[in-house]
Amino acid sequence: MTASHSASPKTLERDIEVAPGDWQAQEFYYLMTAMVIPRPIGWISTISAKGVSNVAPYSYFNMMGNDPPYVAFASTGIKDTLANLREVPQFVANIVTMHVLEEMNFTAADFPRDESEFGWAGLTAAPSAKVKPFRVLEARAHIECEVKQIITDHNTNIVLGRIVHVHVDKSVWKDGRIDPKLLDPVCRLSGSGYATLGEVVNVARPFWKDVKSTQGKQAMPKAVKR
Ligand SMILES: Cc1cc2nc3c(=O)[nH]c(=O)nc-3n(C[C@H](O)[C@H](O)[C@H](O)COP(=O)(O)O)c2cc1C
Repeated sequence: MTASHSASPKTLERDIEVAPGDWQAQEFYYLMTAMVIPRPIGWISTISAKGVSNVAPYSYFNMMGNDPPYVAFASTGIKDTLANLREVPQFVANIVTMHVLEEMNFTAADFPRDESEFGWAGLTAAPSAKVKPFRVLEARAHIECEVKQIITDHNTNIVLGRIVHVHVDKSVWKDGRIDPKLLDPVCRLSGSGYATLGEVVNVARPFWKDVKSTQGKQAMPKAVKR
């Protein structure tokens, strides 16, 4: 199938049909990062063999399974984070919440590898429980990981980290779990756009036996405001 548009159009008279490579890389990047939203942000802390601590945001980031539990993030090109992981294959994914949005963004600057973002951003490097890299004390949840694999395809480097320990701040805990409103995570949109959590709803999980016995859609659970 040929592309419906040779470049990203300003206005749209018909739907877009496009494959990677049909548009300039930057345009396709903007398309995808505006489409797959909101994204959580892993504020990845690492340490070099020389002992320089690094922390930088990665929103190509998510949990990737739970038995055993993994997180994954991707680096476009070889950045300080990736260089550090090749020396010390451990990291902490610090969860980015609204109260550290500006600090997180600040650490995305192109600091030289021998400069630690912790100091420049006024962040506290706290010891981790099971890995060498420090965690960001100001963050409210931390996921400590050991690198299992790095998958490289051209400029994309996908880091698979096996979770070895997590830390949760007591301030975000309510009724036996992390409360989404108390956590107040940053939701990344495209470019410099971010959002907070909107309305939170619950929808019960359906079962085939109910779908079958009601002959279909009547068994579709309704969304209920929390
Ligand atoms: C919110 C946010 C999310 C980002 N996500 C990514 C990402 O997923 N992958 C990536 O390669 N760069 C990402 N960046 C850019 C890096 O953070 C930036 O290049 C940083 O300087 C890398 O730091 P490092 O060299 O210390 O690893 C992101 C920047 C921001 C502000």
